[in-house]
Amino acid sequence: MKVLVTGANGFTGQHLIKTLIGKGFEVIATSRNESQLPSYNKLTYYNIELTDVSNVENLFDLTRPNAVIHTAAMSKPDECSANPNLCTANNIEATGHLLGAATKVGTQHFIYLSTDFIFGEGGPHAEDDAPAPLNLYGASKLEAEALVNAAAIKATIVRPVFMYGPIWQNLRPSFIQWVAGKLKNGEPIKVVTDQARTPTYIGDLCWGLRKIINDQVPGVFHLAGKDIVSPYDMAVAVAKHLNLPLGLIEPVTASTFPEPVKRAQRSGLKIDKAVSLLGYAPHSFAAALQKCF
Ligand SMILES: NC(=O)c1ccc[n+]([C@@H]2O[C@H](COP(=O)([O-])OP(=O)(O)OC[C@H]3O[C@@H](n4cnc5c(N)ncnc54)[C@H](OP(=O)(O)O)[C@@H]3O)[C@@H](O)[C@H]2O)c1
Repeated sequence: MKVLVTGANGFTGQHLIKTLIGKGFEVIATSRNESQLPSYNKLTYYNIELTDVSNVENLFDLTRPNAVIHTAAMSKPDECSANPNLCTANNIEATGHLLGAATKVGTQHFIYLSTDFIFGEGGPHAEDDAPAPLNLYGASKLEAEALVNAAAIKATIVRPVFMYGPIWQNLRPSFIQWVAGKLKNGEPIKVVTDQARTPTYIGDLCWGLRKIINDQVPGVFHLAGKDIVSPYDMAVAVAKHLNLPLGLIEPVTASTFPEPVKRAQRSGLKIDKAVSLLGYAPHSFAAALQKCF
């Protein structure tokens, strides 16, 4: 099967491509800039600006993928709020271009990476809870979901939460590497205790995406962790796992960091549907940490 992965240079894109190549898929990878990926057999890379519809159409004419996994996005809420037009172009319009081109060349399956940010307070949320985004990033991802649902193509929407995992050269660090780096340098950090999340271990997300693509499963799935934790809980677990000084982690409330955009205090996603329909069995946060360092 030939799979097109957008956002190939990003955190999800790089992990996903490694997984798919390892399982024998032919991968067409695309991102905006030059490739940051390690070199793999059965991988073709194109640097393409997805907001330009003719680029996207040419890419599909040339490559004719059987399936698309669309991970590219303006993925930082603060950046979206500071650049609303760019957020619309990257998160909504680019998704529309991909859906149009995929439909035109007869791509069989379109998988869209969305987010828990489409919901408001009161998590963890189930797939069919009412969306209520608290910021522009969440609203843009929700609008892209609507385009995916309206398209004449088999589609799956996957929502992960606050992702973490191992990193390698040219792969951006996740929260756990930030914590480890600071503590190794002896730098104190302030981490919030009053936000609840169900962070997704990237290995579990990649397992779920491969299952969805292999079995061509349509619908909406939450692929998150099974533990409800705060960023402070996560930082303490990292320090304990790596034997780093716990005393450098100061517990604070979210009000310590006046953020430019609103975020839910109690967020996170329920995974019952993925567990029962896909056989999704995510690692605990503690078990996943063993795989990250
Ligand atoms: N990270 C999380 O914790 C999290 C949680 C929930 C949901 N999500 C969703 O999961 C997906 C993946 O997130 P991520 O954190 O892995 O993303 P990321 O690391 O920020 O990477 C996104 C990639 O998309 C590419 N891109 C963005 N706009 C583009 C455009 N207009 N044209 C071509 N390429 C473009 C960028 O390519 P270049 O690097 O080449 O510029 C970038 O590497 C996103 O859809 C995000 O909304 C993420």
